[in-house]
Amino acid sequence: MKFKGITIGVPREIMAGERRVAMTPETAGKFIQAGARVLLEAGAGQGAFYPDEDYAAAGVLLVQGPEMLYGQADLVLKVKEPKFNQALQKHEAEMMPEGCTLVTFLHPANPVNHDMIKMLANRNITGFTLDGIPRISRAQQMDALTSMSTVAGYKAVITASNHLPRFIPMMPTAAGILQPAQFIVIGIGVAGLQAVATAKRLGAKVKALDIRPEANEQARSLGAELIPFDLPEGMGVGQGGYACRLTEEWYEKEREALAPHVAASDVLILTALVPGEKAPVLIDEDMIKTMKNGSVIVDISIDQGGNCQLTRAGEEFYHQGVMLSGLANIPATLAADSTKMFAQNVWHYLNNLVKDGKVGRDGEDQIIQESLVTRDGEIVHQGTLLAMC
Ligand code: NAI
Repeated sequence: MKFKGITIGVPREIMAGERRVAMTPETAGKFIQAGARVLLEAGAGQGAFYPDEDYAAAGVLLVQGPEMLYGQADLVLKVKEPKFNQALQKHEAEMMPEGCTLVTFLHPANPVNHDMIKMLANRNITGFTLDGIPRISRAQQMDALTSMSTVAGYKAVITASNHLPRFIPMMPTAAGILQPAQFIVIGIGVAGLQAVATAKRLGAKVKALDIRPEANEQARSLGAELIPFDLPEGMGVGQGGYACRLTEEWYEKEREALAPHVAASDVLILTALVPGEKAPVLIDEDMIKTMKNGSVIVDISIDQGGNCQLTRAGEEFYHQGVMLSGLANIPATLAADSTKMFAQNVWHYLNNLVKDGKVGRDGEDQIIQESLVTRDGEIVHQGTLLAMC
C-alpha cells in the first residue's frame, strides 16, 4: 500500500479560463486502491466534464470550498501554480498546511512566480514542479509538459483552420478544383511535430523548418517539405541534443530563408523555442505584410514572448488582413483529454516519488532532483535561484 496514510487534496483550479483538474475519477480510484485517502473540492472536475458523482463512485470524499480542502491535505495535486484567491482574499499557498507537499506546474523561474515560491519555502511546503521533469526515457509517462505540448500543437492547427476563410484539403467541386491550404510549421519539437501530423491529416500541404537536423528528419517522415536553410553543421544543437540560441546574424539569415515561403503560405504555426530562453523572433512585420489577406499565424511560443514580432499573449486580432493568434493556455481548451493525460502523468510521477507512504527524499533520482523546487524551508531549484539573482 504505497500511499497508505497519505491524504491527497485536489482543489478546483482558480486561474481564469482554466478548465483542467489534476485527477480523473480513474486515477482517483488507483490512488485509493494504493491506500490513499482522496479529497476533491466539489465541482473541481466540472470544467473538464468529470462530474462529482463519478469521483464519489471511485471512493473520493467531496469537500466544499478550498479552505476545507487544503486544511486536511498532506499532498496537494494541482494543474497550475498557487494563485491569490480573490473571492477569499487569500493566497492558495497560505491555505495549504505547513509541511505539506505540492505537485503542480510551478513555472518557478518565471519572475511573476518568485514571491509565491518564497511563500512556499517560508511555509515549509515541499514543492515539486512538473515542468522540471527531465525529458529522459524513464520519465516519459510522467512528462506532463510533453502531453500539454501535444495538445497545443494539435489545437494550434484546429484554431488556424477555424480562422482560415478557405478549405484545407484539395476540393474537387463542380465549381472547379480548390487547391489545398499551405501550412508552414516552424519549430518541430513536441508541439510542432503534432502540428505537422494534424495539418497533414486535414489535407494541407505542409512545409517545416527546425534548426535541429533530427527534428527536420522527423517532419520529413511525416510528409512535410523542408524549407532549405544552410545552417553550419552542429550550430543549432547544444547540450543534451536540445536546440541552442543562434547569433542575431543567423536569425536574420533564417528570416531571409523563410520570407518567400511565408509570402506563399496560408497558415504559419510557430513553436520555436530554445529551453530556458526567450523565444526567437522569426517572423517580423515586413514578412506579415507579404502574406495573403485571410492568412493566419498561430504563435504558441507566446508565453516565452512569441516567434512573431506582432502577436500578443492572450489576444487574437487582424493585422493588415492577417489573423494573429497568441492564445495562452491552449490545453485548457481541450479540457477533457488534457486532464486525462495530465492525471495519468501525475499518477506515474507520484508512483516514482512516494515510497511506503512517504514522499521520497531520493537525492540520487534525477526526476525527483530536477523537479524539486522547495524543501525544508529552502528554495533548492537551481534555475529558480539563478533567475532570482
Ligand atoms: P520543444 O523544445 O519540444 O520544441 C521547440 C523546437 O523549436 C525544438 O525542436 C527546437 O529545435 C526548435 N527551435 C529552436 N530555435 C529554432 C529556430 N531558430 N528555428 C526553428 N526551430 C527552432 O518545445 P515544445 O514542447 O514543442 O513547446 C513549443 C512551444 O509551445 C513552447 O514555447 C511552449 O511553451 C509552447 N506551448 C504553449 C502552450 C500554450 O498554451 N500556448 C501549451 C504548450 C506548449
